[in-house]
Amino acid sequence: MKILLVLYDAGSHAKDEPRLLGCTENELGLRDWIESQGHTLVTTSDKDGENSTVDKEIVDAEIVITTPFHPAYITKERIDKAKKLKICITAGVGSDHVDLDAANARDIAVLEVTGSNVQSVAEHVVMTMLVLVRNFVPAHEQIIEGGWNVAAVAKDSYDIEGKVIGTVGGGRIGQRVLKRLAPFNPMELLYYDYQPMPKDVEKEIGCRHVPDLKEMLSVCDIVTINCPLHDSTKGMFNKELISHMKDGAWLVNTARGAICVTDDIVEALKSGKIRGYGGDVWNPQPAPKDHPWRYMRNKWGGGNAMTPHISGTSIDAQGRYSEGTKNILEVYFSGKQNYRPQDVICINGHYGTKAYGDDKEHKAHVSK
Ligand code: NAI
Repeated sequence: MKILLVLYDAGSHAKDEPRLLGCTENELGLRDWIESQGHTLVTTSDKDGENSTVDKEIVDAEIVITTPFHPAYITKERIDKAKKLKICITAGVGSDHVDLDAANARDIAVLEVTGSNVQSVAEHVVMTMLVLVRNFVPAHEQIIEGGWNVAAVAKDSYDIEGKVIGTVGGGRIGQRVLKRLAPFNPMELLYYDYQPMPKDVEKEIGCRHVPDLKEMLSVCDIVTINCPLHDSTKGMFNKELISHMKDGAWLVNTARGAICVTDDIVEALKSGKIRGYGGDVWNPQPAPKDHPWRYMRNKWGGGNAMTPHISGTSIDAQGRYSEGTKNILEVYFSGKQNYRPQDVICINGHYGTKAYGDDKEHKAHVSK
């Protein structure tokens, strides 16, 4: 069978660090193993546009593997062309780059390596909060530019201690973020999720469920977004929702770029409605050179803690999601469907998870 693997190009970096597995040069460390099983592996980074390698190669591929860091968007149009496609595997977490309803309608399974990089993202979230709240970026820029002006930075620098912090999404990453924040002595840790955590988990973390999103946003000094991108989270942080946030709050988004409306974030930062925005996810990816999130600043020249999509692709995470991808392939090759239940996003024409919207929402969208 033919397997299409879509990853980013690393060039010389692939040689610098052979454990940089998530690139076209190192192919998740899977080429020899896949070929030893008698299968064909086609690897590319060329994923966008009608004449891309993905468009050409997907036509007779049975398996597509891609990462959220350099996502091949598996749209309905591509699924229609891919007559042999049986399974899409996400080497990482977050399968929104696949049109999941279209996959279900064709009985294409969608699997991901759940949990493989949740610790990596949680660390990045806490780092981004610190970078924003402490006003690190302008301070660092000052230093490398040869300057020294304490007041210019200090006038917009605060502590995490004593703040109210809330996560939209209290799953694996949301929980880990809250746990890591507890030692900073925040005023309160809150979360909003239609799937509340078990009470003992809430207690262990020391957090409180707020059933109303706007109510939570209205009291949070720092908000972090940790839910998947799906129909009801796409464009969720728009001007209207942002208007319910506390004035001068910080917003961190490592979930997906399209959860926030690009121009509404820029406007909120400019007006001072939010004091800072940071994260690593963009819409689309790679972000074009003129994407306004690259250059946006608050009125004092700070408030931007954006990076490329790196939070879930540390070297440690790459080892885990490469291994997890191999495990999913092994199950697929075996012909059994005994995947780890937590890895299943779609199977047999149905959602295997409640994280991409509630059941009612799914039934309305699955055209099968
Ligand atoms: P998870 O499935 O463990 O948790 C997601 C939670 O979000 C679930 O509890 C779900 O009920 C909740 N949720 C869904 N829709 C919601 C809504 N409208 N409002 C509030 N909560 C909602 O997933 P996990 O592992 O925590 O990952 C979450 C997301 O983070 C992924 O789907 C992915 O988009 C993103 N991610 C980003 C990475 C990066 O490198 N930047 C790496 C890994 C994940």
